[in-house]
Amino acid sequence: LADLLEHRGYLQDQHRFDAYDEALRSLAPQRVVLDLGAGTGLLGLTALRRGAAQVYAVEATGLADWTSAIATSNRAEDRYVVIPGSSRELVLPKRVDLVVCDQLGGFICEGMPLPALADAASRHLKPGGRLMPSKVEFAVRPLRSPSVADHLDFWEAPHFDLNVLPLRSAAVGTPLYEHSPASTFAGLPSSLGVLDTSDHFESVELRTTIHVAGNGPVNALAGFFTAELAPGITITNAPDDPLRIDRQHIVLPLDPPFETRHADTLEVRIRALLHSGVLSWTVSDAGGSRRRHSTWQGYSGQPIPRG
Ligand SMILES: C[S@@+](CC[C@H](N)C(=O)[O-])C[C@H]1O[C@@H](n2cnc3c(N)ncnc32)[C@H](O)[C@@H]1O
Repeated sequence: LADLLEHRGYLQDQHRFDAYDEALRSLAPQRVVLDLGAGTGLLGLTALRRGAAQVYAVEATGLADWTSAIATSNRAEDRYVVIPGSSRELVLPKRVDLVVCDQLGGFICEGMPLPALADAASRHLKPGGRLMPSKVEFAVRPLRSPSVADHLDFWEAPHFDLNVLPLRSAAVGTPLYEHSPASTFAGLPSSLGVLDTSDHFESVELRTTIHVAGNGPVNALAGFFTAELAPGITITNAPDDPLRIDRQHIVLPLDPPFETRHADTLEVRIRALLHSGVLSWTVSDAGGSRRRHSTWQGYSGQPIPRG
């Protein structure tokens, strides 16, 4: 079971559980719920404990058999109905009052959360029903990142006498995932805006201005989210948030680094193709110098189609 350790992590993430549990307590009793991407069943089984009448649990991977076993071992098999498959391909026996889902990865594209939530809003939710999360805000923060410097430098030196420099340009388009330490922050977070998770987007283009703190090179952007589960109840993977969930944020390399001084500004544009997961980031300084990188140029490990 490839994802077992990942799910073990979700079962140990106190801040994440507390936020979903509190949001589910605001659910009116006797509601029908879709547990979208059920995993171990944690969120849907908690919804039952908080008064839901019935839960449909949809899980796309082979974990679905284990989700059923967990429902049975928690004596919930009569009200927790596991349906193996992708939520985007299934038709449920009936529409639901609430879709509960934790599908957000490090930033915008990982896990393809936005297409799955928009599809659930239009095909699985009753009119007037709720998505949890209902809104998501994305933000970026400038970094002076030793891990990005190392990520790019690695390809400049020969390894076992092999010159691997051609892969350096692929590393520039290959984001890292980490919990960046506060010592690497080169400014405060800047919001890229708030998206409604029920909206259908093929792609999104988000912009912001970041204000640099301190002098020195800025070689990366941290990208992260804050998702609203219910009014006033959020989860975030923002690196310095004391209540952040245990989920790494994305780190986008900027190559070459911007030589910045305190209070300089950088203009950021992020473009995401939500169905293919391609992310592009363009950053410019006041002098018009620009870095434009994309995961399209990153290392995918996929064979290049011929002919
Ligand atoms: C981040 S895990 C969360 C698991 C569980 N809900 C929890 O909170 O612990 C996401 C799960 O959703 C499943 N998944 C992703 N997209 C899905 C989809 N469109 N339909 C059904 N399952 C999906 C994945 O296989 C994975 O098990």
